[in-house]
Amino acid sequence: MSVTKPKHLMLSVRVPSEDLSYPIRVGDGLLDRLGEEVVAAQDGAKRIALITDDNVVKLYGDRAVAALEAQGLAVSVHVLPAGERTKTPENLVALVTELVKAGLSRRDLVVTLGGGVVGDIGGLAAAMFMRGIGVVQCPTSLLAQVDASVGGKVAVDLGPGKNLLGAFHFPAAVVIDTAVLSTLAAEELACGLGEMVKHGLLFDPEHLADLTRNADAIFAREPKTLARLVAHSVALKAACVSRDPLERGSSGKGRVALNLGHTIGHAIEHASNYGVRHGEAVAIGIQAAARLSEARGLAAPGFESRVRVMLESLRLGTELDMWLVGERGAAVRRALSHDKKRLGSKITYIALADVGEPSTLSLSVDEILRLLRPQSGD
Ligand SMILES: NC(=O)c1ccc[n+]([C@@H]2O[C@H](COP(=O)([O-])OP(=O)(O)OC[C@H]3O[C@@H](n4cnc5c(N)ncnc54)[C@H](O)[C@@H]3O)[C@@H](O)[C@H]2O)c1
Repeated sequence: MSVTKPKHLMLSVRVPSEDLSYPIRVGDGLLDRLGEEVVAAQDGAKRIALITDDNVVKLYGDRAVAALEAQGLAVSVHVLPAGERTKTPENLVALVTELVKAGLSRRDLVVTLGGGVVGDIGGLAAAMFMRGIGVVQCPTSLLAQVDASVGGKVAVDLGPGKNLLGAFHFPAAVVIDTAVLSTLAAEELACGLGEMVKHGLLFDPEHLADLTRNADAIFAREPKTLARLVAHSVALKAACVSRDPLERGSSGKGRVALNLGHTIGHAIEHASNYGVRHGEAVAIGIQAAARLSEARGLAAPGFESRVRVMLESLRLGTELDMWLVGERGAAVRRALSHDKKRLGSKITYIALADVGEPSTLSLSVDEILRLLRPQSGD
């Protein structure tokens, strides 16, 4: 008797490519138009879960709810404690459970109102609830407006590190009201400025010049200037994520370039036990990238000093040398070595040949620290 071998059947499923584009509106006073923007983003939504934090809700909660209700939407408000410690898996599950209790359906929407913390955990809750419902991001810190809300990355933190549990979940729309920056603390403004400088250095010398020319207007929260500069910075980030939406590229002007300033920046955050804020650490990391690029002969002599003058004119810290010597230097080395262990034998380091000319290097920790050797003083 002959036995026929089972044949394995091979089938493939084709998924038509989706249009992942979404509108980003930037303007002075847009919060009062949030309802219209939400309806335009997803016609047919009836319920909105407004996710915010306990600082922002006091300042802008009522206006956001009024704008949504004016369009006939039923709003439930979910308030999280402000701060990075909120981004936990436990809070994520609790939030998704609240969405169930609020009676949201697949056609309804999450709206996040707050800084990057609220955008990240609220966006991830939207991505997880019923396998994903739409989210409209309404960022209120400068960092969230120019960086976190654009690009679709959402996440919470795990014990071993930040943003380790996350997803790409592109928003249905991003609504940026630059008028809300009037209540943002100066240190938080500086954090966002660090990222704006990064966008200018990577992609556009004119944006950089515009920022430094307008430092006083920025710190005075001059509405028209802020709206123009934020829109420009967002456009630069949006163009970058459009070239490489899922961060697949390993060099060039794709998403990897957005790590400019982040290698040393993360190490300083870690070495300071998070006493130095992310944006401030990134600014020092940007100075480091300029020094390393010059020391390696990639950028022309004087590049570091050009970048330093520009950072200082925007009131951003340039205390790089302090982080390269003594106990602090040892802690930075340990943090970099930990990064290297996680990522393989070499670190991908974003350097600059000039403003607008990023370059991806692969360097060991020793090579990085040798190139960054403290300056003897000038
Ligand atoms: N998803 C991404 O692509 C991305 C990119 C960069 C950063 N992030 C994440 O973003 C987070 C940092 O974001 P952040 O700096 O906005 O922090 P945050 O959300 O903690 O906000 C900073 C502080 O400002 C307050 N605040 C926000 N808007 C305000 C306003 N208009 N007036 C007064 N106070 C206001 C907040 O309550 C908070 O106390 C981090 O968790 C980081 O991992 C995500």
